Amino acid sequence: MTRNNSPSISDRRGFFAAGLAALTGLFPLLAGLGVLLDPLRRKSNEAGRLVRIASLSALPDDGVPRRFDVITDQVNAWNHRANVPIGAVYLRRTGEFSVEAFSVNCPHAGCFVEYRRTKHNYLCPCHNSEFGIDGSIQDPSSPSPRGLDALEVDAEKLRQEQEIWIRYQKFQAGKPEKLAI
Ligand code: FES
Repeated sequence: MTRNNSPSISDRRGFFAAGLAALTGLFPLLAGLGVLLDPLRRKSNEAGRLVRIASLSALPDDGVPRRFDVITDQVNAWNHRANVPIGAVYLRRTGEFSVEAFSVNCPHAGCFVEYRRTKHNYLCPCHNSEFGIDGSIQDPSSPSPRGLDALEVDAEKLRQEQEIWIRYQKFQAGKPEKLAI
């Protein structure tokens, strides 16, 4: 008598049903993974978010820049940390309700530029790039490929609340174009 080893129709139906159940079970898992990773996605989109820096009254009205830390809350996939320093900026008053903001990071290789009161300009101590008070390259032999990175200041909050909020963002070093990281 010959024995048939091929799976019966009911076996195949069972196998198919089990496979379908496994696939169906994957959907909630993938959805859950999406939720879990969502803060990471949000974090990468937060590069240009608005951050309060200081009151307008904290800036002298003589056009001399002042350096401020950029402090904000940080959220990642697992925790939320309040008041984390994420960078620094130079702010300068250019009018009653206008403020100029520059990243302190030199566009050449990211060192911190310093404001020089005696020359009323910025110097990067790493390779001596010099920048004018408006952020432009001052010394043509400066190795920086572009001027200081200006940051957007929220004009509405400045005028209505006398508060300085900037859209803080970091940019790629070593490139002539200002490309956000
Ligand atoms: S990092 Fe500023 S000049 Fe090189």
